[in-house]
Amino acid sequence: MIEFKNVCKQYSNLKALDKINLTIPSSSIFGIVGKSGAGKSTLLRTINQLELIDSGTILVDGVDIATLKGKSLRIFRKKVAMIFQHFSLMQTKTIYKNIALPLECSGYKKSDIKEKVEELAALVGIKDKLHEKPRNLSGGQCQRVAIARALTLNPKILLCDEATSALDPKTTHDILSLLKRIKKQYDITIIMVTHQMEVIKEVCDEIAILKDGELVEVGKTDQLFISNNTSLKELTNEDEIIPTKGINIKIYFPKESSNNALITKMARDLNIDFSIVWGKLERFKEDTLGSLIINIDDTEIKKEKVIKYLQKEQVLFDIIGGEK
Ligand SMILES: Nc1ncnc2c1ncn2[C@@H]1O[C@H](COP(=O)(O)OP(=O)(O)OP(=O)(O)O)[C@@H](O)[C@H]1O
Ligand SMILES: [Mg+2]
Repeated sequence: MIEFKNVCKQYSNLKALDKINLTIPSSSIFGIVGKSGAGKSTLLRTINQLELIDSGTILVDGVDIATLKGKSLRIFRKKVAMIFQHFSLMQTKTIYKNIALPLECSGYKKSDIKEKVEELAALVGIKDKLHEKPRNLSGGQCQRVAIARALTLNPKILLCDEATSALDPKTTHDILSLLKRIKKQYDITIIMVTHQMEVIKEVCDEIAILKDGELVEVGKTDQLFISNNTSLKELTNEDEIIPTKGINIKIYFPKESSNNALITKMARDLNIDFSIVWGKLERFKEDTLGSLIINIDDTEIKKEKVIKYLQKEQVLFDIIGGEK
């Protein structure tokens, strides 16, 4: 578990991180999102102390990382690995050498290094590239190499700063699947800084939203998307266009009910016509979640009937826009 307590970081008079209080659970995939300059990379880099904080505390599994020195600091550094948007591979070295580097620096035996490099190359699917140079690999393959290198010292935390931002959608999906598999297999915590909403939806259990160095929202990914969270909406630039006449009711379809025929059943049961004026179905990891806005005539009787019905069916809904 990683806990940020009142963490502040300032660059001259710019507050890059302003009193951040946040808990990232172990063994989760956690997203950090926000506009450019919001402080995402800064926050991520405080975890491996690439950025030092001005005040506050960062606890990793209960230990204040600022107090680590000598051997305990070296052990901690091995526990936290990082991958980047542009892979950061050594262009003049082979893929084998790139992956082997952290092991060589840590003084491992040659035979152990060979075994580990081959195991990781197989895991990430680049076993046949070990003797190539990075320039002969595609972006997706380079990121696989970077992931293998990041895993050499058996980290418990993997920091990803825009790790898929330079990749096409199919390659992004493949890399995300690999990261999900790695998380499961090695039981690590993955923290992803990204501006790609598809990445968030596909892999993140929870997200934190930063704005001008402040933490403005934390929550489960599907719940934040489905509830049309205002901070998230600012990032996605999505807005429903809804009628100004009548009553608009937004109905959310959480996991359990995304496939049922609630709207048609309600129309039949109540004998009321609805217009469906806006809708969205989205995939979140293995689930499909959705929301629909229906519009009904502006009469109190109809409104009461629909509200009663939705309450009885225990459906999540909001009355939005138009007449309240
Ligand atoms: N070394 C530095 N010196 C001065 N200012 C910095 C430094 N690093 C970051 N900043 C500033 O701190 C703020 C947060 O930067 P950060 O890189 O964390 O943003 P970000 O959310 O990762 O943005 P992006 O999505 O563009 O990568 C920005 O205003 C940035 O200009
Ligand atoms: Mg950044």
